[in-house]
Amino acid sequence: MYIMYTVLAGLAILPFFLYICFPYLIHDLQFIVRGIGCGVKMSKFKKKKTFYTILDCFLDKVKKHPDKPFIVFENSTYSYLDADKQSNKIARSLMEFSSLKEGDTVALYLGNEPMYVWLWLGLSKIGCKAALLNNSIRSKSLLHCFSCSGADVLISSTELKDAVEEVLPALQEQNISVFTLSEECNTVGIETLTDKISKASDKPLSPDLRSNVKLKSPAIYIYTSGTTGLPKAAVITQERVWMASFLQGLVGVTSDDVIYVCLPLFHSSAFLMGLTGAIERGITLILRRRFSASQFWEDCRKYNVTTIQYIGEIMRYLCNTPKKDNDKVHKVRIALGNGIRADTWSEFLHRFGDIQISECYGATESNIGFINYTGKIGAIGRENFLMKKATPYALIKYDTEREEPVRDSRGFCIKIPRGETGLLLGKITKRSPFIGYAKNHEQTEKKKLGDVFEKGDLYFNSGDLLKIDHEGFVYFQDRIGDTFRWKGENVATTEVTDILITVDCIEEANVYGVKVPGHEGRIGMAALILKDGLEFDGSDTYKCVKTSLPSYARPRFIRIQKSLALTGTFKQIKTKLAENGFNPSIIQDPLYILDENKGYIPMTQEMYNSISSGTIRL
Ligand SMILES: *[C@@H]1O[C@H](CO)[C@@H](O)[C@H](O)[C@H]1NC(C)=O
Ligand SMILES: *[C@@H]1O[C@H](CO)[C@@H](O)[C@H](O)[C@H]1NC(C)=O
Ligand SMILES: *[C@@H]1O[C@H](CO)[C@@H](O)[C@H](O)[C@H]1NC(C)=O
Ligand SMILES: *[C@@H]1O[C@H](CO)[C@@H](O)[C@H](O)[C@H]1NC(C)=O
Ligand SMILES: *[C@@H]1O[C@H](CO)[C@@H](O)[C@H](O)[C@H]1NC(C)=O
Repeated sequence: MYIMYTVLAGLAILPFFLYICFPYLIHDLQFIVRGIGCGVKMSKFKKKKTFYTILDCFLDKVKKHPDKPFIVFENSTYSYLDADKQSNKIARSLMEFSSLKEGDTVALYLGNEPMYVWLWLGLSKIGCKAALLNNSIRSKSLLHCFSCSGADVLISSTELKDAVEEVLPALQEQNISVFTLSEECNTVGIETLTDKISKASDKPLSPDLRSNVKLKSPAIYIYTSGTTGLPKAAVITQERVWMASFLQGLVGVTSDDVIYVCLPLFHSSAFLMGLTGAIERGITLILRRRFSASQFWEDCRKYNVTTIQYIGEIMRYLCNTPKKDNDKVHKVRIALGNGIRADTWSEFLHRFGDIQISECYGATESNIGFINYTGKIGAIGRENFLMKKATPYALIKYDTEREEPVRDSRGFCIKIPRGETGLLLGKITKRSPFIGYAKNHEQTEKKKLGDVFEKGDLYFNSGDLLKIDHEGFVYFQDRIGDTFRWKGENVATTEVTDILITVDCIEEANVYGVKVPGHEGRIGMAALILKDGLEFDGSDTYKCVKTSLPSYARPRFIRIQKSLALTGTFKQIKTKLAENGFNPSIIQDPLYILDENKGYIPMTQEMYNSISSGTIRL
């Protein structure tokens, strides 16, 4: 009897015990169960006679709920069936009026609109790949991106007519067919498509047209900008499309959710995490031309949005909007994205209510990723045995000064202990391949690192410095290049930024290192945006950096900008600023220098000259 009691009591406290010892067990199990679910689905897809693609999934959803809204854009709603019919028409027009056949590539050059989706679906129906061109690129860059995809056809919208005409002669030399989405066009060499689509039949197309599409077939090309050089076209295979499309399910999006997508569709966040993920779930997608901080919550309320997609800056812009009484009045429950900073994260939750933020880590082309599925603030993810098994990875010792991995006497890399920061490598295996970039062998090879732990092994070099703590939470520390060295010390730019933006007058800060003649390393500099109507307060800023940062990390120079230079996904541009340096005769913006006695004071040409000549040592 007594034993009975003990056992029962033991059982009763078991959940409590588990909770105390493994506080994240439920999250881990939930994630692992969902992860295994995805794995099972994937192996089923592979077993089918012809590989089950995301298009097949779309067609199944059309059968299942033809009238369910699929895309809502501006004031129009398009059902799953509408999308199916539109894409049939497109596929038929393209087959008739171009020489496209299975396996060919078509470059899409247009902004966010439903047509983007119909075009991609139409192309998939005839077994063609889509190269998703950034609609902001022009001339040389446009030609470069177009060429690296190997596309034979370019389709663009009327707003981009001038941009297309600029490169038309070069395209014509290569016999490229160019289509525009309009009824009429009087430019020789550009064909209209809208008229052809409207006349085409909307009857379904035979799956035979795409019978050679396999797991490893390239599905789309997505361009990655990187820190240097021209964009590269990352090859996204059908398998990768699936992996990314499972993300929504992994973080708990269900078939009743409504997702809001305002990032550009040519980018992997919106296209893979947003669009193809929405198809996998069979949900409604609210599409916007572009992000608008003032419209964001209005839209969420209007359309009963439950899932939003973000990149860090979007969250920050939302937090920077004036507070409103109805900030918490909405149905958003999940935010899926990447790049949110811990301070923004807390502020966002405080301001907009209890939203599950699912921070993901992973580059478009990378073979490794993490998801923060426990909601631990600041973590980009969590280690678990399933992930380690499915996608082996390692953190290795990295020399930030020489900018290369540290190797031991035998020439192998060194794994770092838990809690330390190291370079993330993803092992290249059959299950986690690194496909690389289209027509760019050199850049593809550059991302690979061999002989890491044994002769002949091969890893994908993420270029990111990560830390995994004792509980298994993964933290993003730095992108290589986001650290610079001064006086023999490493300065993490994000840390300095976090301090600067606590100063009253500062809205945004971009921190980087600049070279100083006669000095090793780089000294800290910050480009700042001030809050509306406020002046730069040099003494207040100095007080703040002095109390919070060691002297080597304090920005020695400050430049005040009207707006920060950002990439299309709002990542801050540092290289350009670093090249500009701190010469008042080159930089038009107001420039300040840190004077240990007076704080930040205006920088003069004489000061610059004395620093350059070495009269003043920094
Ligand atoms: C949508 O409809 C509203 C009200 O009917 C109108 O004010 C708005 O301009 C429309 N938006 C677009 C993009 O057509
Ligand atoms: C373009 O087409 C013409 C005529 O069909 C052909 O002579 C020429 O070689 C082609 N050029 C290229 C670059 O394929
Ligand atoms: C949003 O939800 C409310 C209440 O559930 C409903 O009355 C309304 O029609 C919904 N709006 C849309 C656009 O689905
Ligand atoms: C993980 O998610 C939670 C809640 O959504 C968040 O509070 C936490 O900061 C995240 N961790 C990181 C490292 O971003
Ligand atoms: C798109 O192109 C513009 C113009 O070149 C560039 O500033 C931006 O970074 C690009 N966006 C992405 C996501 O690569």
